[in-house]
Amino acid sequence: MNNKKHIYPFHSQVCYEQRKSSMQQEPRLVWLTGLSGSGKSTLALRLEHYLFHQGYKVYLLDGDNIRSGLSKDLGFSEKDRKENVRRVAEAAKLMLDAGLVVLCAFISPYEAERQLVKEVIGKDRFTQVYVNCSLAECEKRDTKGLYAKARRGEIDHFTGISSPYEPPLAPDVEVATDTESIEESLGKLIAAIEPQLSLQ
Ligand code: PPS
Repeated sequence: MNNKKHIYPFHSQVCYEQRKSSMQQEPRLVWLTGLSGSGKSTLALRLEHYLFHQGYKVYLLDGDNIRSGLSKDLGFSEKDRKENVRRVAEAAKLMLDAGLVVLCAFISPYEAERQLVKEVIGKDRFTQVYVNCSLAECEKRDTKGLYAKARRGEIDHFTGISSPYEPPLAPDVEVATDTESIEESLGKLIAAIEPQLSLQ
């Protein structure tokens, strides 16, 4: 039986323009992609803190946190990662429709899925950030000890070791965390993103 045909979405009586003007900002999704240990979460946390104190209504969704709740039933196979990213995109879309600025920090290793996020959100309110750091440097940092475990075969489907990472083809912003300081990378992000958040 196809239950989809018995679904009747409704439209709110509060329109998007009204929500934006009550929030005094342009909702936007900033999507950070990169290898484990590349610095996505560190940069996203710093960016969230900065934007919040500038007065923006901003919220961060991060891989490890989402995988403790919304996606706790998912693992790291290609199918599960795609489902993880799809769920996050739909959640972020609701948050944008409510007027928020949303930051997402996910490995999101597949180009096709990142393009799907852009389609779900709409290209005019989507910024893709490539947190570029070589595998060698991520493995050297190994802040969580996961690369060592993956090399010992204790973790399946580990990104960069036994599971692929496809670098973005055309990121809107790129930071190189293996050659720049956190302050430099953060400065680049703020310069690219903050002007996009003011109401036109
Ligand atoms: S994905 O690919 O976008 O669905 O991954 P994501 O939701 O961002 O989750 C990444 C964090 O999960 C931890 N972890 C793993 N990462 C990669 N591969 C495997 N197999 C794996 N197992 C657990 C790890 O802490 C990742 O966090 P970050 O911040 O990226 O290091």
